[in-house]
Amino acid sequence: MSETATMLRRTLANTVGSAGWRAALEAVPREVFVGDAIFLRADAARGDVWTAVRRAGMDERDWLAMVYTDETWVTQVEGTLAGESADAVTGSPSSSSTTPSLVVMMLEAAGISEGDRVLEIGTGTGYSTALMCHRIGDDAVTSVEYDPAVAERARRAISEVGYAPTLVVGDGLHGWPERAPYDRLIGTCSVRTIPPAWMGQVRAGGSITTPMWGWMGGVAFAHLTREGEGTASGRFLKEDLYFMRARSHMPPPRPPIATGIGPARESRIDPAILDDEAALFVAQLAAPAAQRASGGDMTILLDVGTGSRADVRSDPASGWIVHQHGPARLWDAVEDAVLLWQGAGSPHQSAFGLTVTADRQYVWLGEPDGPAWDLPA
Ligand SMILES: C[S@@+](CC[C@H](N)C(=O)[O-])C[C@H]1O[C@@H](n2cnc3c(N)ncnc32)[C@H](O)[C@@H]1O
Repeated sequence: MSETATMLRRTLANTVGSAGWRAALEAVPREVFVGDAIFLRADAARGDVWTAVRRAGMDERDWLAMVYTDETWVTQVEGTLAGESADAVTGSPSSSSTTPSLVVMMLEAAGISEGDRVLEIGTGTGYSTALMCHRIGDDAVTSVEYDPAVAERARRAISEVGYAPTLVVGDGLHGWPERAPYDRLIGTCSVRTIPPAWMGQVRAGGSITTPMWGWMGGVAFAHLTREGEGTASGRFLKEDLYFMRARSHMPPPRPPIATGIGPARESRIDPAILDDEAALFVAQLAAPAAQRASGGDMTILLDVGTGSRADVRSDPASGWIVHQHGPARLWDAVEDAVLLWQGAGSPHQSAFGLTVTADRQYVWLGEPDGPAWDLPA
């Protein structure tokens, strides 16, 4: 290990500032997990074009300094690994080494410590898996990765640095029953609902900690305690943390957008409120199958499953005009939920909680018996 890397690791551990994970941050060489190439955004204006930047093309100190910056480094876009791409790639990141301080925030939020058995969903580069191996031991760590090429890359990196957790290739939404029960389950990819399989694999008193990211783009950070009777419940956390979406919880492709269809009326809320993260989360609770599309100065919601749509535009005379079409009156539902949230003082997602039972998942405001919205089945 180079002296430069050792120093940079120490600096990173100081930056992240976690007593419990300090030794792991100082021990695990992030450069092995980031690999020999990453993707950087090629064009600030167009966020979906990426070019590969290679270790071989950079001064080694500059490369290491970049690797140890407390930032996310994208290692795969739309299924193409950075090391395999000659030129620019267009699309969304599909794997990355997440910002170390966020990884540690997740591990701390989950309350992982010595003696715990952990199931991680989304091995990615394997960096977070290695941090856990360092602290709680190889035998306590199981990690599932969806993408075989990403999983193989992580497997090589993890064994190169001398750890031996249980690594599984597959859809983490099924968990990994072979090594259950777990004390802690963490999602390092974001889910839309809590996968039922997870519930049966965490022991009573154990926890499920995962970012949630719905189809409208609303996010919240769930920390649930598994109770008896196969239920789990907990308030969302204050930390604004999310990881990329779980591959099997992605929204369906959207058809071309048509607007101005269906009856029109005045909107009861300013659609710009959806630029507020908590408001967007609330709107999504009310219309969980809807996706939000951009259309100039218009706010557009579209539920691909039922074909329902709503578009809201500003109107000099009345404020905002909404057109709605289809069996689900998307904007009616969004307005009701946003007005209720505003009446409660427009709180952050952490004022809400989630309860999961065998036949229902519902988000509540305030207390479990407060106003509630069902998550999609
Ligand atoms: C943000 S990365 C993980 C970060 C990683 N733990 C780290 O230390 O940097 C998210 C990973 O989740 C994986 N993933 C997405 N959906 C998944 C699923 N359904 N099951 C398992 N892994 C999944 C992606 O392929 C990607 O590698």
